Amino acid sequence: MTPLLLDHPLAADALAVLRRSGTAPPAFRAALGRIALLLAAEATRGLATRTKRITTPLEEAEVPVLGSKLPCLVPVLRAGLALLDGFQTLLPDAPVAHFGAWRDHETLKPVEYYFKAPADLGERGAIVLDPMLATGGTAIAAVSRLRAGGAGDVTVAAVLAAPEGVAALAAAHPEARVLAAALDRGLDHRGYIVPGLGDAGDRAFATS
Ligand code: URA
Repeated sequence: MTPLLLDHPLAADALAVLRRSGTAPPAFRAALGRIALLLAAEATRGLATRTKRITTPLEEAEVPVLGSKLPCLVPVLRAGLALLDGFQTLLPDAPVAHFGAWRDHETLKPVEYYFKAPADLGERGAIVLDPMLATGGTAIAAVSRLRAGGAGDVTVAAVLAAPEGVAALAAAHPEARVLAAALDRGLDHRGYIVPGLGDAGDRAFATS
């Protein structure tokens, strides 16, 4: 699986803000929000449309409007919450499922503690919001949950992806799409993405 990368100067500039170690939490969240908007636009590029007849101030016109159920947004708690506003700005009517998993810093494996999804998940696609696709463990767990709940097309939207995480996700869920602002070099011995941006949750929510 080759991740789809945002190729946009605004994404590159926001990413530089995120990577800089001196960036304070408000500026960090704002930069995440800008990238979330760009990720949301790209992740929804293939949404189906239908034709609707409307009346403009000048005449009747046939125009395309969104044609099917919107994908469910699935922020991975807690860092994924920092991407949610941007996605909801472009998809205000999309339902939101929450997936909670923390990463055990010794095993680097996800430990699930929360999942709540809309009843009609089986009639929708889903977009997993996980800023850091590192080992891929949490994203794999989230996609497994969503697929078990009947979700159709699943996209994992990340800010940074590591090749290790992309490969692990592709092995577990070859049908899932990965969209990221950038593909970094790899993981360090603690499972952090390098060059990376550090702990996205801690930096967004000022808990470091
Ligand atoms: N999660 C983070 O927040 N940062 C990383 O580099 C890897 C996982």
